[in-house]
Amino acid sequence: MTADSHEITSAEDLIPLHPDRNIALELVRATEAAAIRSAPFIGRGAKESADGAAVDAMRAFLSTVDFDGVIVIGEGEKDNAPMLFNGEHVGTGRGRSYDIAVDPIDGTTLTAEGRNNALSVIALSDRGTMLDASSVFYMDKLVTGPAGVGVVDIRLPIAENIQRLAKALGKPVEEMVVSVLNRPRHQQLIAEIRATGAGTRLMSDGDVAGGINAARHDARTDMCVGIGGSPEGIVTACAIKALGGHIQGRLWPRDDDEAQKGRDAGLEIGRVYEADDLVAGSNTIFVATGVTDGALVEGVRRKDGYVYTESVVLRGHSGTLRRISSDHLESKWF
Ligand code: FBP
Repeated sequence: MTADSHEITSAEDLIPLHPDRNIALELVRATEAAAIRSAPFIGRGAKESADGAAVDAMRAFLSTVDFDGVIVIGEGEKDNAPMLFNGEHVGTGRGRSYDIAVDPIDGTTLTAEGRNNALSVIALSDRGTMLDASSVFYMDKLVTGPAGVGVVDIRLPIAENIQRLAKALGKPVEEMVVSVLNRPRHQQLIAEIRATGAGTRLMSDGDVAGGINAARHDARTDMCVGIGGSPEGIVTACAIKALGGHIQGRLWPRDDDEAQKGRDAGLEIGRVYEADDLVAGSNTIFVATGVTDGALVEGVRRKDGYVYTESVVLRGHSGTLRRISSDHLESKWF
């Protein structure tokens, strides 16, 4: 039965065929709230307080949404994370069932230090479609825009991927820009990127924004590579579905114990996880609100009695990136 031919024969049929369109706005309310509540901590050197404020606000808003959400990627295990822990049910329990990934602040250190690119993020997909990679902390990732699909591959040397993508984009390698987290573990990778003639954008944190920026058609970077958080890889994959880009991930356990923990959880060490392995299907929603300013969205601003937020909504099903600017009456919040 198609959407057009759908006949209403029972109360169940009154549930809209695309409820996720409405859920997207509900999720934005939650990331807006998390960003607004964390804003007083920007540049105050208190990353736990910033994160705590964001978690509390996000949870309060998520609890009012009419859906049956299960946190697949949250703040960690139940005992260590009082809220938004992996496996926690969120929402009213009414409506459709979804897997949820939350990152109340991607870039807690960026927030604490008052640096750019911190985001509050929620991603959603149909129940049972999101990979739970939380038992292995790090993942090696390769993200590009649509030009990289079928062109780059994480198994290839970085130099070859840069050359292939430059050719697909029709520009010289010297004009290519590759973003990578600035970490000692990436010293060799950074040297190899620069040896091709391409430029690097070193990120101090926040590879969710880094990945999305590399996949956007109007972005200033062409590729985001390197080892970052595994949860961030799943969240990024939900956004990449809407951008038609390329993402691959390979788990990067820090030691044998972590590798075993991953295997026990059903993960495959050494396997290349393609976009559909990270999150299956295209019914994904990714929402993010800027905490601090960045290339993707502006951060929270307070001025003349208002709090301003900027958010993006990326919907895999329709392949859209929407921007939502909101003016919140300050007296309602502070
Ligand atoms: P947090 O905000 O949770 O601290 O994560 C920031 C981040 O930079 C992620 O964007 C990235 O995936 C991960 O940390 C990298 O981890 P590490 O800082 O240990 O290299």
